[in-house]
Formats: sequence, structure tokens, C-alpha cells
Amino acid sequence: MNAPGVTGGSFGDGGADHPSAARVYDVLLGGSANFEVDRRLADRMLAAEPQAARYARANRAFLRRAVGVLLDDGIDQFVDLGSGLPTVGNVHEIVHAANPDGRVVYVDVDPVAVGYSRYLLAGVDGAAVVQADIRDVGSILEAAETRRLIDLSRPVGVLAVAVLHFVDDDPAGILGRFRMATVPGSYLVVSHLTTPAQMSREAVGVVRRYRESTGSPLTFRTRDQVVDLFAGWELLSPGVVPVDQWSPEPEDLEESADLGPVPIWAGVGLRGSV
Ligand SMILES: C[S@@+](CC[C@H](N)C(=O)[O-])C[C@H]1O[C@@H](n2cnc3c(N)ncnc32)[C@H](O)[C@@H]1O
Repeated sequence: MNAPGVTGGSFGDGGADHPSAARVYDVLLGGSANFEVDRRLADRMLAAEPQAARYARANRAFLRRAVGVLLDDGIDQFVDLGSGLPTVGNVHEIVHAANPDGRVVYVDVDPVAVGYSRYLLAGVDGAAVVQADIRDVGSILEAAETRRLIDLSRPVGVLAVAVLHFVDDDPAGILGRFRMATVPGSYLVVSHLTTPAQMSREAVGVVRRYRESTGSPLTFRTRDQVVDLFAGWELLSPGVVPVDQWSPEPEDLEESADLGPVPIWAGVGLRGSV
């Protein structure tokens, strides 16, 4: 990896001596913005759970489909929480293909992901990145990039895709604060790692090793707990379902054929007038 703003050596939890959630996910998606330490952990994950890369691709495909649904409903501004490394099918690319005037604010806590995002977004109108912990809702909403790009008096798409399982304390409280900041007609998109009961023993072992290596808290949640995250939002059909089963397109179905559901819950909610 050769991300500008990354100078080599140790970057603490976000550096080249520890794997990071953003970069291991990038390896699974076939990206190149990762270090040897990330590739080693991804290899161990794939050895224990050969479908891990399919799960990552299915999550990314859900993100693409959900953003498409929001665009179809006229949403033209997005806040992408836990956006990760810019990789295959970036949100701003999907948005700008449909609406060149669309706005996207990416938010991530990982300094390497943020540095790389900044580099890739240089010169891109209508998209910016904020380095913040998603638990710090105020600093995200007050950030100069958010104030410049996002008009909170109009509907916005809040994306919390594959990030809330990294938050152990009160994810509903975080989403509630974002809900309070948005107007009716806004959307919430969530995907979330499921519970060990829904996973193979090997997959559970991999997740635990991942937690130890990356230092990220990792909290499994049941389907009911993920449904509860949508308090105050009206769930769109088909509700909270495995990520590959949320309004799949033909090519998504082909990839999933006979391989079993993906152990990640997904749903999209609309903010009604209450
Ligand atoms: C698995 S990636 C998901 C990337 C993208 N949302 C997607 O689904 O394709 C999870 C991202 O969440 C970020 N993350 C984890 N905890 C976070 C926190 N508390 N605040 C902000 N970002 C966080 C990680 O750095 C990582 O980039």
C-alpha cells in the first residue's frame, strides 16, 4: 500500500504493525489499500471461513443496492458512517453516476482510511471525508465538511453499513441522535454482523481472532436487536433480512446460489413525519 499521508512505521491501531478493520475488509474485497499484516489476517480468516470474501462482497452489494433505492427516491445527500477505504463501488461514484450534483460525506475513525480517502477525493466536487468516531455525533454534524456539503433541512441518507458491530455501547443512541438531526423523508441504511448461533464454529473463531488482532470491539447482535436499531424509522420491505436477501438483483442471486445466507443482517428505514 502506498497511501499518501502514510509515512511508514507504526501508526498505532491504524498502522502497518496491526491489522485494521478497514484494511482487512479491503483485502476481502480484492482491493490493494492494505498491508502485509492485514493480508495475513485475511488469509487466516479465509482458511477458517472460505466464504468470508463472499460475505464482504455481499455486504458491499447491499450498500450499492440500498444507495440506489435512496437515489430513486430523490435522496441526493449521504453521510456514510464507518465508510472504510475507498474501494470497489464507492458511494460518491454511485451517487454521482445518478446525480452529478449529489453530496457525500464519508466518516471513519481509522486515520489510514481517512488519509487514503482524502487523497482519492482530492479534486472531487461534492464529496469529502471527516475523521471521527461515529459515537461523537456532534463533531460529525459540526464538521466543516458536513456543514459545507449536507443541508440538514432536506432529507439525507444516513449509512451505517458494517460499522455498528464495532460499537459496543448504545448504537441505538447514536442512530437516535442522527435521527433527531434529520428531517422526515430521510433514510437509515444498516448492515450488522449476526450472532454466533447463526455462524459456523470456524467463523466464530475467526471473528474472535479478528477482534484480538485488530483491537476493535466486535459485538454480535440478534435480528431483534438490529430491528430495534430502526426505532423511529419505518422499515422498508423486506425488513431486516440477511444482507444478500435484501432486494437482490439477478447477479447477486447468482453469486449466492446454494451457498447459504450471509451472516449479516441488513435493513433500510424511512423517517416518517413523527
Ligand atoms: C467493515 S468496514 C465497512 C466499510 C463500509 N461501510 C462498507 O460496508 O463497505 C468498517 C469500517 O468502520 C470503521 N469504524 C469502526 N469503528 C468505528 C467508529 N467507532 N467510528 C467510525 N468508524 C469506525 C472502520 O475503521 C472501518 O473502516
